[in-house]
Amino acid sequence: PLVLHVLGARPNFVKAAPVVRGLDELGVRQGIIHTGQHYDALMSDVFFADLGLPEPVANLGVGSGTHAKQTAALLVGLEEVVETHEPDLVVVYGDVNSTLAAILVCAKLGIPTAHVEAGLRSFDRGMPEEVNRIVTDSLSDLLFATSPEALSYLATEGVPAAKMHLVGNPMIDSLFAALPSLDAARLEGIPARYGVATLHRPANVDTPEAAAELVSAVLEVSRQIPLVVPIHPRGRARLAEAGLVDGPGIKVIDPLGYVDFLSLVKGAALVVTDSGGVQEETTMLGVPCLTVRPNTERPITVTHGTNRLVTPAALPAAASKALADGASTPAGELPVLWDGASGPRIARVIAAWLKGENLSP
Ligand code: UD1
Ligand code: UDP
Repeated sequence: PLVLHVLGARPNFVKAAPVVRGLDELGVRQGIIHTGQHYDALMSDVFFADLGLPEPVANLGVGSGTHAKQTAALLVGLEEVVETHEPDLVVVYGDVNSTLAAILVCAKLGIPTAHVEAGLRSFDRGMPEEVNRIVTDSLSDLLFATSPEALSYLATEGVPAAKMHLVGNPMIDSLFAALPSLDAARLEGIPARYGVATLHRPANVDTPEAAAELVSAVLEVSRQIPLVVPIHPRGRARLAEAGLVDGPGIKVIDPLGYVDFLSLVKGAALVVTDSGGVQEETTMLGVPCLTVRPNTERPITVTHGTNRLVTPAALPAAASKALADGASTPAGELPVLWDGASGPRIARVIAAWLKGENLSP
């Protein structure tokens, strides 16, 4: 049997690496299809190198575009490549447009699918990712969840228990694997005490109004602690127009590779973000995290981790409190099964499924 992984964007690579490794250890034949949704070296190649991912068997070179254009190109490219390779199972990750397109293509071709990171819900359909999550989960044959509340959301939506597996968080597997390599000394010109900011959600960066409100709050934080800001290409122009540029207390840099970025985060006194994955990584590393969003699909990072949701207006005061409180985590205990062994768990379920067995959840 053949398993294909469809990957397209930065967070997909981080989640897939432990699953690919787990399947390798079980001798399962597999290959990666890279859709090319992310294509800059610092958004893609560096992750394959840092995470030890094998070369993709195909790169569709889909690139950027409106949702319709990008998704259309993904559908056409994926249909052809999936028909050529005739996989027995296609594994998709997270909530990006490549994930949505792969699940639709496979559903129409009658090819079974597995979704890693199933059941996350922000209950905010204004987020493109929420739409992708709902469609992906409703069409998947195997659903791998990172946290217990995901199982209950899926059950509410009518997903049979037999399809769901609570396996923990493969993104945390990648972080565990990288821990020995993390060292802020890898990075040049970083202040001794600093915060990190990453911002790329459309609701925060796509309009001049939202960008201006956010940047003014971030600049206020930079007057409390120097900030390093590795900038996602999506927000680069808009945030710069709004005034997020190098200056006293603020260093705007290119996106960082995986090991460099986590080295920066591990040494930080504070993280300001709107990323999904970074909420989880700061939880694991015990670094205070302020998420500039009205909601999160990862509430466990608030109840069990270091994460707090804030509005731009509340950000400066929240930063000052987080800096005063330091790294103490509220619950002090990592979420269940965030233990670095999620990849092998997923691999075992997949290998059994390929033999026609359903490992009980
Ligand atoms: C995508 C995901 C988002 C995820 C993020 C991770 C969707 C709908 N969104 O958002 O959930 O959090 O990836 O990083 O799938 N660009 C480059 N170089 C690249 C890739 C993108 O310059 O290598 C620029 C292009 O101008 C592009 C813009 O970034 O138009 C947005 O890229 P896109 O893939 O559409 O979405 P992201 O914002 O990256
Ligand atoms: N990341 C990185 N370099 C950066 C910013 C983020 O390596 O400059 C990593 C981060 O550690 C996490 C993943 O990229 O593993 C998260 O991706 P992103 O924030 O782009 O997407 P999201 O999680 O919001 O979908």
